[in-house]
Amino acid sequence: MVDIHNAISALPIKGFLDVEVDPSLDLFEEIEKLKKEKNAILLAHYYQEPDIQDVADYIGDSLGLAQQAAKTGADMIVFAGVHFMAETAKIINPQKKVVLPDLNAGCSLADSAPADAFRAFKQKHPDHVVISYINCTAEIKAMSDIICTSSNAKKIIESVPQDRPIIFAPDRNLGAYLMKKTGRDMLLWNGACMVHEIFSRQKIAKLKNQHPDAKIIAHPECEEAVLQLADFIGSTTQLLKYTVTDPAMKFIVATETGILHQMQKDAPQKTFIPAPPDNACACNDCPHMKLNTLEKLYLCMKYEQPEIIIDEAIRLAALKPIQRMLDISKAAGL
Ligand code: 13P
Ligand code: SF4
Repeated sequence: MVDIHNAISALPIKGFLDVEVDPSLDLFEEIEKLKKEKNAILLAHYYQEPDIQDVADYIGDSLGLAQQAAKTGADMIVFAGVHFMAETAKIINPQKKVVLPDLNAGCSLADSAPADAFRAFKQKHPDHVVISYINCTAEIKAMSDIICTSSNAKKIIESVPQDRPIIFAPDRNLGAYLMKKTGRDMLLWNGACMVHEIFSRQKIAKLKNQHPDAKIIAHPECEEAVLQLADFIGSTTQLLKYTVTDPAMKFIVATETGILHQMQKDAPQKTFIPAPPDNACACNDCPHMKLNTLEKLYLCMKYEQPEIIIDEAIRLAALKPIQRMLDISKAAGL
């Protein structure tokens, strides 16, 4: 697999990420023009900054984004998200160009499962089915039997025969939550997301006291102590749908703050309060997701770089468990 730091220095337009963008340009207009010129589709995750969400062709959770990548007829996929998401799009679309505005946009959860350590762990449990959360590298996917996301994980686990032991990687919080939901005992890899791990149960409880009419909603990457407080737990898309359909007028939202933009757009009459982390900040941004900016997005579409490149053997091995995930999700109507 390509080393992302080497890949940056190998860019033909050296240091183009530092190129200054003409401040007089209307970047929304320019990006729309580039989409048409290059037959490009712009896919964005809910954790991207509002301007990027507003210019995207599709905004979604990890499953929705992978499904869009699988069905697009575009020549170029511009992925406004993090590296593992763009990598998944490339695994599905080897013939298409996949670009990411900032190649350094990684993921602490994916980083928590280094390939060599995971290989050794897997070798100790050769009889286990390996289910990996999509937030992992292509190398980990290549060692997995099925990929899942937070929207389909329950269905994916239920697709494995009861008598087969399961390794779940890399998120221990999501894994522990799923063990409770499915009643399946799983061997958990000890990884976590730096954003969801630092929500403060104490501060959220205090906030709920100040807003007793608010419902607490949380992403399953949060720790159990926070999930215990939640009225609803789900993927980003599921959280968004819940805020639209639930009659409550106020929500305390325990996930990355980027999602509040769509929540406010879809239900402008409702109030959304970001759940506070256990530090001095009032809200909780993912530093990886927020590396992408509208300027970098424009440059990446213009120069068609940085591009995601994957070793073909790894790609082929990683495609199988992703395809299984897409097939199970389709059969389940997800
Ligand atoms: P979903 O959007 O699939 O819920 O995932 C959240 C996340 O942490 C993405 O990095
Ligand atoms: Fe990774 Fe967490 Fe950021 Fe999602 S929010 S990209 S899981 S570090």
